[in-house]
Amino acid sequence: MTLLEELSTIVGNAFAGEGLDLSLGAVKPADRPDLAQFQCNGALAAAKAAKQNPRVIAEKIAERLRDQPLFDNVTVAGPGFINLTLADGDLSARIDDLAKDASFGGWRKPVKEKIVMDYGGPNVAKPLHVGHLRAAIIGESLKRIFRFTGDEIVGDVHLGDWGLPMGQLITGLRYEQPDLVYFDEGSSGPYPAEPPVALADLERLYPQASAACKADPSRAEEARKATSELQKGRPGYRALWRHFVALSRASIEREYADLGVTFDLWKGEADVDPLIEEMAAELQSKGLIEDSDGARIIRVARDDDKKEMPPLMLFKSDGAVTYGTTDLATILDRVQSENPDRIIYVVDQRQRLHFEQVFRAADLAGYFDAEKLEHLWFGTMNGNDGKPFKTRDGGALKLRDLIDTVTARAKMRLAESGLAEGYGENETLDVARKVGVAALKFADLSNPRVSDYIFDLDRFMAFEGKTGPYLLYASVRVRSVLAKAEAKEAGAAGAAAIGAPEERALALILLAFGEAVREAHQKRAPHILCDHAFQLAQGFSKFYAACRIADEKDAKKRASRIALASLTGRQLDLALNLLGIEAPARM
Ligand code: ARG
Repeated sequence: MTLLEELSTIVGNAFAGEGLDLSLGAVKPADRPDLAQFQCNGALAAAKAAKQNPRVIAEKIAERLRDQPLFDNVTVAGPGFINLTLADGDLSARIDDLAKDASFGGWRKPVKEKIVMDYGGPNVAKPLHVGHLRAAIIGESLKRIFRFTGDEIVGDVHLGDWGLPMGQLITGLRYEQPDLVYFDEGSSGPYPAEPPVALADLERLYPQASAACKADPSRAEEARKATSELQKGRPGYRALWRHFVALSRASIEREYADLGVTFDLWKGEADVDPLIEEMAAELQSKGLIEDSDGARIIRVARDDDKKEMPPLMLFKSDGAVTYGTTDLATILDRVQSENPDRIIYVVDQRQRLHFEQVFRAADLAGYFDAEKLEHLWFGTMNGNDGKPFKTRDGGALKLRDLIDTVTARAKMRLAESGLAEGYGENETLDVARKVGVAALKFADLSNPRVSDYIFDLDRFMAFEGKTGPYLLYASVRVRSVLAKAEAKEAGAAGAAAIGAPEERALALILLAFGEAVREAHQKRAPHILCDHAFQLAQGFSKFYAACRIADEKDAKKRASRIALASLTGRQLDLALNLLGIEAPARM
């Protein structure tokens, strides 16, 4: 139970004691922290229903609560708000419990689920776009939050490795090196184990080939043909394609690693290719497929639809499959190989219609309950011009370049602030990379998921305010305070003895962690954990400014403060970890 849930139960019981509904006892943090710590507005609703004076009801509830030793003060304010303040002794006991708890007060789910999470979606040989960056950052954090609360998560990268770009690459390479064995018609290998090109060639070939296809319809036709031959199994093309995927995957893996993002499965769209024929036959027998000008479609519209809902195209008139086909087959594959309770997609908002169609089709087909398929879409990271962020030369975002940029900027900011000095080249660079990536990730995660935001490196990188670097600095500072206490032989952490206002405030923040985790999980909203981490850092900073720690004369107070500091450090690091942010040991 989180603290708010526990308090709500206690106040709810008081309502029940008056013959009123338990749910009226809902407690939330006080709107006026200067007057109380918590409040309950249930008396207002109760009075409305019973046509009574809310202050009279509130007084009755307050009277029942005043008996309880956990409260220091229970008052009735305004039209009938019940204001609650916990006793310092109760707060101290709760902090002691928190310090013993392996999850530092984090919330755990009563009923656990197995969930496949799809938060990658990079495409072979194509640079990642901003949507991929946000999917990775948000998905990694959600994965960690869900895992922490007890769910079993299987993260799948779902590589885009099966569409037209593959045919464009194949034809592009054929123009450059027509004599390669992969292009021999009728040959069935064997083919060399070494790739005929390097990653840099792919990065050059793909944009070239895709531009050529745009400019020249005959090139586009060739690419379409190559795609279809690849998908039908032409051995030389398959062999070439395997090289492309392997090269690309190695580089994509490195970029995700630099971002602290990992996946359990490295499946791709191509993996479900063998399922498609059988799936189509089954859908046909269920009467779900219709012919439409030579194409085969599944109608997913409903009478009560408020917007237009086009059918899902299963096969184009030339027989080619679509993005919808592979996503539907992927659901089938996930059911067969993982049997999850739920599937979550962390993908760009531009794909909302696509997922709506796929979810409806999966539900119609009986593959998966649409209620348990979630598209957690997100807004766009924009540039200063309000359009999706692009690199300075107007090109698509290369994650590698972005990470280099934030690292360089972090290095500069650290030097300006006199931080991470004299550490040796390697450590300084490591700190800079962690600060840079933290700046990027925190800036992304601290906005509500569905909002757009503007990429503003100066603001992300500030050591003051609600930023990644500020939080890393806070984490490092807590650690250095504790190290100083140890060096001064100030003694170990001991029982909490909350007395000063700043201790009380910090304790309340520490105790709000459970609620933050619960809400972040329920709303699929990492920004709630960002808020918590920021409040914790600020709460510590005020506590540290007002209370002596290692230098405190009173041994009991000293041990209590060391305990508070140590708990703050551990909870802050846990919160950062759940956000997917790595803190350096020092800076
Ligand atoms: N490869 C896709 C793209 O770049 C994203 C894939 C997202 N996941 C999915 N199951 N469709 O747009």
